[in-house]
Amino acid sequence: MTRRAVVVGTGHYLPERVVENAEFEATLDTTDEWIRSRSGIERRHFAAEGETTSDMAAKAAERALADAGLTADDLDAIVVATSTPDLTFPSAATMVQSKLGMTKGFAFDVQAVCAGFVYALSNASALIASGQASRVMVIGAETFSRIMDWTDRSTCVLFGDGAGALLLEAQEQPGTNTDRGILSTDLNSDGRYKDLLYVDGGVSTQSTGHLRMQGNQVFRHAVEKLASTANTALDRAGLSAADVDWIVPHQANIRIIQGTAKKMGLSMDNVVVTVQDHGNTSAASIPLALSVGKERGQIKEGDLIVTEAIGGGLAWGAVVLRW
Ligand code: ACO
Repeated sequence: MTRRAVVVGTGHYLPERVVENAEFEATLDTTDEWIRSRSGIERRHFAAEGETTSDMAAKAAERALADAGLTADDLDAIVVATSTPDLTFPSAATMVQSKLGMTKGFAFDVQAVCAGFVYALSNASALIASGQASRVMVIGAETFSRIMDWTDRSTCVLFGDGAGALLLEAQEQPGTNTDRGILSTDLNSDGRYKDLLYVDGGVSTQSTGHLRMQGNQVFRHAVEKLASTANTALDRAGLSAADVDWIVPHQANIRIIQGTAKKMGLSMDNVVVTVQDHGNTSAASIPLALSVGKERGQIKEGDLIVTEAIGGGLAWGAVVLRW
């Protein structure tokens, strides 16, 4: 038998304020048509004044606990993927721990920008497989609206805020690729590309900074690297693209999502797409899409899912799991 990390609950939270593309036309030299046709984004949510990453993360986690019929006392660990924590420290994860009223176990953040949730899932799966934890809440949560340069039309129209959570539980499975749970992962980064997508501030440079991106350069890397990491992870599990029920990709740009599906030989009927309603929520985008995909009735127990993401670093990776 093999100890696998199986998803037993999902939840998400989106801030109340919805900003349609047309709102940017008042302050920027842009159009709804440009944003839609280049990115697939139609609207995004922005956090309210004073609303933080850990506030949103805790709400998503509460919903995942309710979905699983469990309480915070049942958790051993919380992992939060974020690049926009409330404070430099303590971690957003310990803030979520406190908001959930959980006083045992452990909590920490993972920072790999848009690939953060894939990195967090991989870490949580390893904690479960090694017996260090039996139930882990894995959350992606971001307030990218706080690091936008509102005068830069090439970036500020692309991002949004939100949070999504998956509750993973250790379950003994037969040890084949028909098991439920996380079957394989593939993580990569290459710091030579650090200047393609970064925030020009931080603690040791004594500022918060703003997101800077050479979008067309990142685009060039995205399709190639995403298809390659997804195929590597599938291969590691002894599976191929033909076995996949759903690709649940990082939601940055519909053209990247379409290009990756095509390169993997899959139809868009096999892809969960939320980019039109959420924009790019960085580490929150995959758990948001998983939670929404389940709510829509797309994702069902037994489905084979591949998640893949790329972001600043560059950092990228994929996780193969059976729901
Ligand atoms: N409205 C109107 N015109 C615009 C806008 C806008 N909002 N933004 C840029 N333009 C202009 C540019 O100035 C440029 O004009 P020019 O030709 O006169 O110089 C023109 O549109 C084309 O710009 P490109 O950047 O080449 O446009 P492209 O088709 O590449 O689309 C986009 C831009 C949407 C950013 C795309 O490149 C993309 O999605 N890149 C990848 C983003 C991504 O996946 N990031 C990784 C995850 S994010 C993370 O890790 C935090």
